[in-house]
Amino acid sequence: MRFDFVTPIDRRHSWPSQKWHRYADDILPLWVADMDFLSPPEVIEALRARVDHGVFGYGQVPDSLRQTMCAWSAEHYGWDIAPEWQLWLPGVVPALHLASLAFTEPGDGVLTLTPIYPPFLKVARRTGRLSQTASLGEPLSAGEPWRLDLEALEAAITPETRLLLWCHPHNPTGRVWQEDELAGLAALVERHDLVIVSDELHCDLLLDAGARHRPLAALFPSLAKRVVTLWAPSKTFNLAGLTCACAVIEDPDLRRRFAARCRGLQPDANVLGLVAAEAAYAHGDPWRRALLEVLSEHRERLVAQVARWPGVAMTSPESTYLAWLDLRQAGLGDTPQQALLERAKVALSDGAAFGWPGFARLNFGTTAVQLDEALRRLDGVLGH
Ligand SMILES: Cc1ncc(COP(=O)(O)O)c(C=O)c1O
Repeated sequence: MRFDFVTPIDRRHSWPSQKWHRYADDILPLWVADMDFLSPPEVIEALRARVDHGVFGYGQVPDSLRQTMCAWSAEHYGWDIAPEWQLWLPGVVPALHLASLAFTEPGDGVLTLTPIYPPFLKVARRTGRLSQTASLGEPLSAGEPWRLDLEALEAAITPETRLLLWCHPHNPTGRVWQEDELAGLAALVERHDLVIVSDELHCDLLLDAGARHRPLAALFPSLAKRVVTLWAPSKTFNLAGLTCACAVIEDPDLRRRFAARCRGLQPDANVLGLVAAEAAYAHGDPWRRALLEVLSEHRERLVAQVARWPGVAMTSPESTYLAWLDLRQAGLGDTPQQALLERAKVALSDGAAFGWPGFARLNFGTTAVQLDEALRRLDGVLGH
């Protein structure tokens, strides 16, 4: 294979990484969502060339990047977007907060569905808004998908609710929402006159053959005046440290309101992040396809292993490199993530931070050698 997803890269003794330096050296880290793989060679070459230029003054989003994003959207999602719909920013999480400031007033309700990537749960409080949550429906039986429970979602809506933070595909369950589910969601959002932020950060990592991402905004053009779509190359091409993301907003008024809120509250996008984003979207697709094969294999390894652990349930993720483990019956007490950290020496993400104690999220975006070692260690605790 042209790309090496096999050789482990030593991240422990290089520039500090959140993933590898949060815990002691004897812990294998399968928590925060970045992968232990080199980014696509074309991205590394483009960065090298930009660094060789040697001048790092304020940058500007190049037209070529906007055009590249338009081409990627048309080719991969069947959605024709215009260059001016794109607002490039240093991150998706800042964009969630800025959306709250832009589209709600103090005391308004910001709603999200749990379990969910933890920063979603902090947006309301951090921006002086009312935090509102509803739960996804648990799998009806082991291995079945997590469900969008529209009744529960609607019941959580109050007259204060203004904004819905939505994750598509979904972190942590890996669910790829289907068109009928999204249609129900779109109708609900219109019925209650909400703005919706569709965080689609994981959308280029659909693991099942033939699966195709359909942006919420592309499926339902009638939502245009109320939807902000968030994309980034950070998960797909393993570029999180280069802080670069894109908000796509078709409606000029919504875009103006969002852009006005960004001014002064966040820096321009990082020049190296923009360079990397353009190289990734222009040339990185063969690498991404190869990555998907590797991640699918890792998913199968994990599914087979989890099936052997009594009291542990997991629905096979349809996307990304994250798996959501139900450890409530695993006999590890109320804080299973902590128990596995101490006893198995493997760091997972604690489900409590996602709004669901008793669960843990496992990142399988690592080499097979490292994944197997982590599974071996976990097996020592869970496999009896
Ligand atoms: C759904 C989701 N949104 C946002 C982020 C973080 O994005 P950023 O690093 O651009 O702030 C993550 C990272 O894991 C994520 O999973």
